[in-house]
Amino acid sequence: MSTTATDRRTTPPPGPQRPAGFVLAVAGLLVAVLLLGAGAFMWLSGNAGPTVGGPFTLQNSDGRTVTDQAFRGKYMLVYFGYTFCPDVCPTTLTHVADALDKLGPQAKLLTPIFITVDPQRDTPAVMKQYTAAFTPQLVGLTGTPEQIAKVAKEYHVYYAIHRTGPGPDDYSVDHSSVLYLMDPKGNFVAPVRADDSGDELAAELRRLLPAG
Ligand code: NI
Repeated sequence: MSTTATDRRTTPPPGPQRPAGFVLAVAGLLVAVLLLGAGAFMWLSGNAGPTVGGPFTLQNSDGRTVTDQAFRGKYMLVYFGYTFCPDVCPTTLTHVADALDKLGPQAKLLTPIFITVDPQRDTPAVMKQYTAAFTPQLVGLTGTPEQIAKVAKEYHVYYAIHRTGPGPDDYSVDHSSVLYLMDPKGNFVAPVRADDSGDELAAELRRLLPAG
């Protein structure tokens, strides 16, 4: 789109002014996150194997230490994000909860796990309240920044703090958005698109999971 001198001289219509820079920044960020998600998804699709995932030691929402061993015997559907995420995380987790409702008996084979990439703000108590809002089945995990960095690296998750102001809490966290299906032994099965609707997600899981 080109802007002419005439356009620039045009008086904007009356009414609330849009902070154009802010809108552009948010739009740009969304595009970046979507591209990251698509890129990570494609990369993972071509790399099914033991290189995705691995052992972790984290804290559950009661503040207790848990390792990946605690989830053996069930499939894990792992998602990385953070509770202050304005849109992508809550949308994804809503779809996960919806998919579990629609899966029927197969839902019992699966533990949905939400691992924060913002351990500074996402304390066990914050995680507990947040995950409960989606479905009681959703397990929220946090940890020290080092523990989070380790598990994110194992899952090839990208995340980076993006400052939005001068205050200590003025930041968002850019992060890749992919659901990871892990088998009952903890091995990577497949990536699942995090932007699928609940119906699409249920259909995909029905295909990937053994009959319930
Ligand atoms: Ni998010």
